[in-house]
Amino acid sequence: TRRLTIRDIHALRERGENIAMLTAYDHVTAGLLDQSGIDILLVGDSLGNVVLGHETTLPVTLADMIRHAGAVQRGSSRALVVCDLPFGTATDPETALHSAIAVLQETGCQAVKIEGGAWAAPITARLVQQGIAVMAHIGLTPQAVHQLGGYYRHGKSDAEARQLIEAAQAHQEAGAFAIVLEFIVPELAAEISRLLDIPTIGIGSGPDCTGQVLVINDLIGLGICPPPSFAKPKADVASIVREAVAAYIAEVKGPAEEPPLV
Ligand code: KIV
Ligand code: NA
Repeated sequence: TRRLTIRDIHALRERGENIAMLTAYDHVTAGLLDQSGIDILLVGDSLGNVVLGHETTLPVTLADMIRHAGAVQRGSSRALVVCDLPFGTATDPETALHSAIAVLQETGCQAVKIEGGAWAAPITARLVQQGIAVMAHIGLTPQAVHQLGGYYRHGKSDAEARQLIEAAQAHQEAGAFAIVLEFIVPELAAEISRLLDIPTIGIGSGPDCTGQVLVINDLIGLGICPPPSFAKPKADVASIVREAVAAYIAEVKGPAEEPPLV
C-alpha cells in the first residue's frame, strides 16, 4: 500500500466518504491505527497534555513535535501524517515557514497544522506557496487558552459565527487542504462544511462535518482523568492496564506470608 496524499483525502470528500482522523504520538500507536485503516494521523500538540503531563499545550516545543512526529511517521505506512506547529512557532509567515520546513525535513511527514482565524490565512498562503500542505484549525484554539479565558464552545453569537465563516473561507482561499473545526456550535460547523470545498474535520462540533478527529487516548479510554463528554470512549484500556499490572505485582510478590502464630 502507498501512503495517502491530500488528493486522496479530497477524493474521499468528493465521493461522500467521511474522513477519519486520530491523534498519535508514538511509533506503536501509529502502527496500530495505521493497520486499522485510519485516513489521517495527527501528531497533535495535545502531546503536551496527554503525554507530557502539562496543563496546556503551551510548553510544547518544535523539538518535541519533531521527535514525536518522526516516531509516528516511521510507525505508519498508509495514513497521511500531519504535525501541529506548536505555540510560538507560527506567529507570522516567515517564522511558520521555517518551523514547517524543519518539521517536513526532519520527520518526513506530509503536512502541518496551524491554529488561528482569518489573521492566520497569510501564514497558510506563505506555506502553500512554498509547496507545503497546510491544515488550518479554527474555533477553540487551545494555544490561545489564556487569551480566550478557558475552553468553551465557539460561534454562539452572530458576530462570532460570521468571523468563523470568514476565517474558514480565508484559509480555503489561502490554499489549506482541510480545516479542523474545534468545539464549534454544531449548526455552524454544518454550515461551514456546506460552504467550503475542502474537508472540515470536526471535534466536539457535531456530526455534520466532512470528517472527525479525536485524541486517541480519549477514544480508547487510556487516561487517568475522564475524557471530554463528546469523546464517547470505545474501549477501557486503562482498566486493562491496571488489571494486568495488578496481576503482575501479585505474581512477583507471590502468596502473602501467613502471619506468625503467637
Ligand atoms: O492537538 C490536537 O490533538 C489537536 C486536535 C484535537 C485537533 O489539535
Ligand atoms: Na493541536
